[in-house]
Amino acid sequence: MGKYIIGITGASGSIYGMRIIEECLKAGHEIFLTITKSGKIVIKEELNLDLDLSPDLIREKLLDYFQVSEGVFSYYDIDYISSAIASGSFRTDGMIIAPCSMSTVSAIANGSSNNLLERAADVILKENKPMVIMPRETPLSAIHLENLLKLARLGVRIVPPMPSFYTHPETIDDIVNNTVGRILDQLSIEHNLCKRWS
Ligand SMILES: Cc1cc2nc3c(=O)[nH]c(=O)nc-3n(C[C@H](O)[C@H](O)[C@H](O)COP(=O)(O)O)c2cc1C
Repeated sequence: MGKYIIGITGASGSIYGMRIIEECLKAGHEIFLTITKSGKIVIKEELNLDLDLSPDLIREKLLDYFQVSEGVFSYYDIDYISSAIASGSFRTDGMIIAPCSMSTVSAIANGSSNNLLERAADVILKENKPMVIMPRETPLSAIHLENLLKLARLGVRIVPPMPSFYTHPETIDDIVNNTVGRILDQLSIEHNLCKRWS
């Protein structure tokens, strides 16, 4: 089974990141999660999940949230720059950043590596591993678009949350699952989340 790094940033749409983790765990993959400071603020606002706690307590809370054991789920504080995922010698199968703020898009496109998430993304790029991001902002400025183009040219898969209506979504879950399914498709992670056109 695969090992995937998941990054959650302070863009709207925390539910996407959490659903991606649920699906990866369900499919038997190992997850390494880090959340930016703004990511925690948005998670509290959108999911009513308070992660304003010590890293150990956050880990416990998330293990409980995802109903898994520590063997398959690791949480790393955003400032824990000496963690495994900050090193190119630590082997993973790829990284998903969802939702991805324009601030983090810019940091990755410019190689800033100012926190663990940005460093992990920088490592994924330098090691030429698969990376999928779900950028979320509207409208998009030329700066956003230029940064996204730079990443796309580096092979990063850009999967914004853009619902399809030919699938006739009836609930928010339907809409979320559709985008999550398309993100997982990019890494060939098995799921039954979206209706496929046939
Ligand atoms: C409720 C809320 C929603 C936000 N939504 C977005 C968004 O959709 N896209 C975005 O780029 N920034 C959004 N922001 C602003 C980012 O959180 C902010 O730029 C932050 O510095 C991003 O930092 P990070 O990339 O380290 O998470 C939002 C902020 C809040 C509080």
